[in-house]
Amino acid sequence: GKGEYDHFMLKEITEQPTALAQAIEGRIDATSGRIGLSAFEPGSFEAIDSVQFVACGTSYHAALYGSLALNQAGVQATALLANEYSVAAPPVDETTLVIAVTQSGETADTLNALRQATAEGARTLTVTNVVGSTAAREADDALFIRAGPEIGVAATKTFSSQAVILTLLGQRIATDLRGEPSADLESLLPALESMPSRIHELLEHSNAEAIAEQYRDSQSYFFIGRGLGYPVALEGALKFKEITYEHAEGFAAGELKHGPLALVTPETPVFAIFTGQEDEKTLKNAEEARTRGAPVIAVCPDGHPAVEAADEHLAIPETDSDLAGLFANVQLQLLSYHAADLLDRPIDKPRNLAKSVTVE
Ligand code: M6R
Repeated sequence: GKGEYDHFMLKEITEQPTALAQAIEGRIDATSGRIGLSAFEPGSFEAIDSVQFVACGTSYHAALYGSLALNQAGVQATALLANEYSVAAPPVDETTLVIAVTQSGETADTLNALRQATAEGARTLTVTNVVGSTAAREADDALFIRAGPEIGVAATKTFSSQAVILTLLGQRIATDLRGEPSADLESLLPALESMPSRIHELLEHSNAEAIAEQYRDSQSYFFIGRGLGYPVALEGALKFKEITYEHAEGFAAGELKHGPLALVTPETPVFAIFTGQEDEKTLKNAEEARTRGAPVIAVCPDGHPAVEAADEHLAIPETDSDLAGLFANVQLQLLSYHAADLLDRPIDKPRNLAKSVTVE
């Protein structure tokens, strides 16, 4: 049950320290710099040349996160919407690893893409939460995120766990393909180990409820980010629209000036996510919105230059840039939750939506 919580969504947001601890348990060793993903011994991806992720909704955002991390590690990777895969899949062969990212393991669109990739001769893997799910049974291999059951229709803890597991898997793939571990493993593994306790702290001190209250009468809500902050901007907007029924959009920060800036007014707060990847450019993009009268809420560490430049601040800890976006995402989950709660929305069961979409 929900226990002391009004909604499963808040319970599941709060469970993230535990979910993440379970996700990484036994899979990393910061002292030796080792990543152990049981089925995937070092060398198990040597025959792979490129990676395609297929997924929908929040899982697609986690997949995009994983694909950008792989690109940054020098591996050819793309994230594709599973529901678009049948019309325009890039070619695959036995050197292509197709990774289906799906919390439930039962999403029809994702299973269709997985089956198509299998039929065309790709090697397949699923990253899922559900042992015994269709995706886990049908893919060549399965990697479980161990987040525990998620009841709220809005995916929360499973996004964080997927992104963390994809980060680990990406490091393993990159190591196999390039023959050496990526340089930032030394800072990534300790940052991962401390993530559960730091998320716990963030949850204790978040001012997201006050920010939700402050901007509750806005016309639209925009989310911008760059690099690994981009999938987080998309996810922030999806969560916001899904449970508040208010209009929200996520953009790559640099795209704002290529069209969306025309929508920006004093009635459209802009949440700007800073992950330590070209932050000065994102700050410039946020300032362009602020010049048009939009309130800017900076999601960044204390003491970051964006704090001074913005109207409000949602704080995240100083951490590895591979993980910063995931802390930002937790602040945005809380923002959406409180905004929806103020509007008295049926948070755990938003209209027209189902937890698992088993139709095409
Ligand atoms: O079970 P899956 O991860 O395959 O589900 C995919 C999407 O339907 C799901 O993430 C959806 O977007 C969430 N309700 C968003 O919160």
